[in-house]
Amino acid sequence: MLQNIIAELHIYEKKVLNGLELLGYESTPEKIAESQGMDIKSVMSASGSLESKGLIHVQKDVDELISLSETGKKYAKEGLPERRVLKVLNEEKYILMEDIDFKAGLNPSEVKIAIGWLLKKKWASIDKGNVKITEEGRSAVTEKYKDELLLDKLIETDNLYLSHISTLLKEGFNLLKKRKGLIELKKEPNFKLKVSKKGKKLLDIGIDIREEATQLTHEHLKTGSWRKLKFRSYDIHAEHPEIFSGKIHPLQRTINDIRQIFLLMGFTESHGSILESAFWNFDCLFQPQDHAAREMQDTFYIKEPEKVNLPSLELVNRVSEVHETGGLTGSEGWGYSWDIDVSKQSVLRTHTTCVSARYLAENKPPLKMFSVGRVFRRETITYKHLPEFHQVEGIVADEDITFKNLLGILKEFYHKLGFEVRFRPAYFPYTYLSLECEIYLPDKETWIELGGAGMFRPEVLEPLGVETPVAAFGLGIERLAMLRLDIKDIRMLYKSDIGWLRYLPVKLD
Ligand code: FA5
Repeated sequence: MLQNIIAELHIYEKKVLNGLELLGYESTPEKIAESQGMDIKSVMSASGSLESKGLIHVQKDVDELISLSETGKKYAKEGLPERRVLKVLNEEKYILMEDIDFKAGLNPSEVKIAIGWLLKKKWASIDKGNVKITEEGRSAVTEKYKDELLLDKLIETDNLYLSHISTLLKEGFNLLKKRKGLIELKKEPNFKLKVSKKGKKLLDIGIDIREEATQLTHEHLKTGSWRKLKFRSYDIHAEHPEIFSGKIHPLQRTINDIRQIFLLMGFTESHGSILESAFWNFDCLFQPQDHAAREMQDTFYIKEPEKVNLPSLELVNRVSEVHETGGLTGSEGWGYSWDIDVSKQSVLRTHTTCVSARYLAENKPPLKMFSVGRVFRRETITYKHLPEFHQVEGIVADEDITFKNLLGILKEFYHKLGFEVRFRPAYFPYTYLSLECEIYLPDKETWIELGGAGMFRPEVLEPLGVETPVAAFGLGIERLAMLRLDIKDIRMLYKSDIGWLRYLPVKLD
């Protein structure tokens, strides 16, 4: 664990820890920078990340930064006024008050200052207009006073933190502060770094502060220096800009996955047109011409072209007969007068079952066919209803195909997508037995229909000339996508919500 932390430390972080260890586990960024040959900025940024890892504590105080004004610099170089008078006094026993200015090279206001400080520092006394040097004054000639020591230090270093200077210099500072305009003070943050308990444990293990190579170069290989180098390990948790790669829309991905499953289950893909005749969409599927689903309020009828060509008259007649009398199927049919003009109406297909009907008219069993496509219904939009959606349709035709096989195929298909469905008896005009597949929505506390299926009735198969049983199914795709993507509303799939799309995983489970 600790070894892992060490392995992930940046070289600057290691250096700061190392510096702190050398300086007694507690120090300032300036001292660490000096001891490790780093610049302050690098020390500060490494300290920030060490603190976020809990390896050090960073204490921040506000400190005062002392520097000299222009006058302060002048006095630091030329000497304070009282010092200049003291020099003269050391050579002459006394000076007349009125001679001070020219003898010490001071202006009248400086003379006043000089006298004030000579007395305060006890370097001189005044007797009947004569300024005389004292014993303290004599010893001060060769020894700098506290305020002068600070002036020297400030000239040397430019600035000093008040909290960093000695008691002596602090007394000097208090003296200088009393004079106007010599020193400048600025409030500055002052940092103190302290190794935490966790940091100490890390230091006990020992940290290798060898410079780390980030790249293996041609030169390293040529000279063999790579052998001695310590390579920086990749930090896969490092912060990085978010990258949103282009990806296929989740609905299209679901369609692709569905297509893949049926292909792997041995189905052949077929296609149909979204513009269809009522004949293939309804009549051929034994849906009576007065069926509710054929009403204008449920189906989109097309104005142009208003009529679509029908297939061979032979097939049309057989379908017509089945509707009217049941034809050769043994059924009684619907018992009404079938209208060829109604079957010529062009519609936007309401389901993909018309693709299956066309396929059966053109292909002989045994066969396994699937088809994916858009269908259209005049629906009120809800969380699970759209007026335009996708279905995947399929048929399996062979001598011994049964309803049980149909259940098995559907179970397998949904299972491959990760769903366990339940089957419920249902009704479709074109199948018997019929069923619906459902899945439970815990959020809505209800079951949702995923698809319909059944065995095509003889009234469908006989006119098409199919002699084997045919298992058929038609499943909604958007509802499946809703479940896979865990979305509560089907409309999300068509919203183009870029935020949602960006964060979706590239591969759906
Ligand atoms: C049919 O469309 C039948 N043709 C299915 C069929 C094929 C049965 C072959 C027998 C043999 P239904 O109308 O129930 O069935 O629609 C099938 C599925 O399409 C529904 O279970 C549902 O998942 C989906 N679906 C239906 N209407 C909508 C809608 N408005 N919006 C989104 N999905 C829908």
